[in-house]
Amino acid sequence: MKALVVGGGGREHAIVRALRRSGAAPEVLCAPGNAGIAADAECFPGVAADDARAIVALATERGVDLAVIGPEAALVVGAVDALEAAGIPAFGPSRAAAELEGSKAFAKELMAAAGVPTASHLLLRSRAEAEAALAATDYPTVLKADGLAAGKGVILCADEAEARGALDVYFTEQRFGATAVVMEELLVGEELSLLALCDGENVVPLSPAQDYKRIFDGDEGPNTGGMGSYSPVPGLVGAAEVEDIVERIHRPVVAAMAERGTPFHGVLYAGLMICVDGPKVIEFNVRFGDPETQAVLPRLRSDLVDLFRASREPGGLAGMSAEFDDDWAVTVVLASAGYPEGSSKGDVIRGLDEAAAIAEITHAGTAARDGEIVTAGGRVLNVTGLGPDPAAARDRAYDAVGRISFDGMQVRSDIAARAVARLASP
Ligand code: AMP
Ligand code: GLY
Repeated sequence: MKALVVGGGGREHAIVRALRRSGAAPEVLCAPGNAGIAADAECFPGVAADDARAIVALATERGVDLAVIGPEAALVVGAVDALEAAGIPAFGPSRAAAELEGSKAFAKELMAAAGVPTASHLLLRSRAEAEAALAATDYPTVLKADGLAAGKGVILCADEAEARGALDVYFTEQRFGATAVVMEELLVGEELSLLALCDGENVVPLSPAQDYKRIFDGDEGPNTGGMGSYSPVPGLVGAAEVEDIVERIHRPVVAAMAERGTPFHGVLYAGLMICVDGPKVIEFNVRFGDPETQAVLPRLRSDLVDLFRASREPGGLAGMSAEFDDDWAVTVVLASAGYPEGSSKGDVIRGLDEAAAIAEITHAGTAARDGEIVTAGGRVLNVTGLGPDPAAARDRAYDAVGRISFDGMQVRSDIAARAVARLASP
């Protein structure tokens, strides 16, 4: 069989590798891919991930049996609808179902209707409306751009002056291209990413993960797309808590989407805050998380092709589960100079072969130039260490990180330190 993975980041590299472990032994293609994915799949750098027409053309020409869409940008432009209409089986939600991520206002309304716990919020449709709300609210508060912002559109505001500054970012600078802003209650607790495969009716949870959003150690500095992750997360959630979260959050959402005539197929990523009074939704994504996937999929023992195919069929996941190794995975992201505000291109990366002998390296923003691998984006590489406990997995990841270098490399030194500490003193 032939599988096409759409996207070109660390998440897609991890998906490519997991597909290659399938018993179906697929030939794997990737569009656009990157310099590292090219070692594991035939890449098509000229096909942009959000160009639905070019993706359908490629999939048709190459006789693809299963397309897997990585990034939200492709889903919200209807890549899955276009592929399925052309007779190509595609894993991921339809454009209508992708609204769960594409519009925070839609997600909030659906959660309210389905009784899913989340932060209370107000939708502010103009600067004037926002200014009035800021004068009347309690602080701290959370402001978010209403739309896709690659995880960077959220500003936590300690007081009204900070909140007014945030309005300049959204409405004057137009940094996230949003026309509306969501103001939300600040949730306090630990964050958890719980991803689940959905077939329009059933929900099959994957192993939970934690993501590190801020650029600097100790959760300081601006939000990024994610600077590291680890999986599983015992001490915070075990099997019983995962089942409870799925029952309170994923199943009601999947049922509500089906009732509305837009059944959800694909992976539903619940970004949660584990609060003293239970889990609450921070956001939904309608695709695999990055860098969570790089820590979750290396531990998957079930056949990913089977799971993806079953997710496409209404009710196809009935009786299925996703099984994982007992091993731990810790993923450390290496970012280029200037990230997250910008990024640096063309810095030569050294030590990749040595690092790959210790840990699993997946590529994100990399390119090949004159026989060398160079930086080509904000998040450059993911280094995943595996081990029988969090300390061992963490040591492996950082041992490998220590072998890699490029100018301006940014790396957090505290990924999964929390997990090691939690297990040491339960
Ligand atoms: P989002 O883009 O909505 O996932 O938000 C990005 C990050 O901002 C989250 O992962 C949290 O770290 C933080 N965040 C967003 N909303 C809240 C909230 N209501 N309370 C506390 N932190 C939040
Ligand atoms: N790691 C956060 C995300 O994928 O949205």
